[in-house]
Amino acid sequence: MTRIRAAITGVGGYVPEYRLTNDEISRMVDTSDEWIMTRIGIKERRILKEDGKATSDMGAEAVKQLLIKTNTDPSEIDMIICGVVTPDMLFPATANIIADKTNIRNAFGFDLNAGCSSFLYAITTASKFVESGSHKKVIVVGADKMSSIVDYQDRATCPIFGDGAAAVLLEPTSEDIGIVDSIVQSDGAGRIYLHQKAGGSLKPPTFETIANREHYVYQEGQPVFKWAVSKMADVSVEIMKRNNLTSESLDWLVPHQANMRIIDATANRMGLDKDKVMINIQRFGNTTSATLPLCLWDWESQLRKGDNIILAAFGAGFTWGAIYLKWAYDGKLLNGMARKPEVSKIHTEL
Ligand code: UT7
Repeated sequence: MTRIRAAITGVGGYVPEYRLTNDEISRMVDTSDEWIMTRIGIKERRILKEDGKATSDMGAEAVKQLLIKTNTDPSEIDMIICGVVTPDMLFPATANIIADKTNIRNAFGFDLNAGCSSFLYAITTASKFVESGSHKKVIVVGADKMSSIVDYQDRATCPIFGDGAAAVLLEPTSEDIGIVDSIVQSDGAGRIYLHQKAGGSLKPPTFETIANREHYVYQEGQPVFKWAVSKMADVSVEIMKRNNLTSESLDWLVPHQANMRIIDATANRMGLDKDKVMINIQRFGNTTSATLPLCLWDWESQLRKGDNIILAAFGAGFTWGAIYLKWAYDGKLLNGMARKPEVSKIHTEL
């Protein structure tokens, strides 16, 4: 029987235009460019400023670009998963709203919230549907408007986060490419260190929860940092070992962009040189569910068919994981945005 894998066959992305710089943050809270650069490694982050615009608007822009780049008609999409912690509303799912805004009808669609690991969890989930043969064109979006839950009076959290969205298309392939392996884990005991206190069924919104600023990100940075360093590196090293990958044979690490020091520690444990690590934290900050696909979007033109890539993330929950995949197409773009024809061929054959 032919083994079917799920391959990423295109990437679309979107970041808002407004750049929130460290200098501007230094005028809001008691901090400095020097502290933020040394402790976190972020220079600026994008913020969605327009009234009435939400996570789904960024997700929809990313999906529209993805559909154009992959020459896909919305009617062909049979599944859409949105990794998100800042949905437009508690319900319906942001995936449904994005689908509506991009004219995707009748697709199996839902949101998946695994904190900053949401995209990694969503890709792992989606790949199982593709591998089973039940779904053939699956979009996975990672999108977050973190500025909607960040307290710009809290210097410990406000420099960290930014807004953005990116999306990938997953399709079946029988070639030796696509998602090969994944490790995804969680430990709910970590929830006390990173969460949003009010707004859910535990503490519905009241005047008091608003006065107490409980609708914002609550984070105890140090324990989150320690867990992130050890768990992200542990699973990345484990997935390398069990797939016989070495620091030479691995082409790229795509790490969650939460803190430069966490990225460095993970790369060091894997024995990787920095030029194999995708890093755009300085430009976008931590966009939560969007960090991994925004990296793929940024680096797409440099990627080659067969490249060995590990994606790794850690987030609220706690959740964490790593995925090993072989990239499916040469990133050199034809006609500006069109995908190379041989990539299309791999799915029509199945
Ligand atoms: O993506 C989801 C997962 N999240 C993460 O991975 C985040 C993990 N945590 C971190 O990245 C880091 O813990 C932070 C960046 C959040 C904080 O860095 P830190 O080096 O752990 O700082 P800290 O919390 O230990 O604070 C050290 C000092 C404190 O002052 P005192 O008590 O030593 O006088 C803080 O009040 O730095 C102070 N501080 C700041 N100073 C200037 C905290 N935030 C700031 C700030 N500017 N923005």
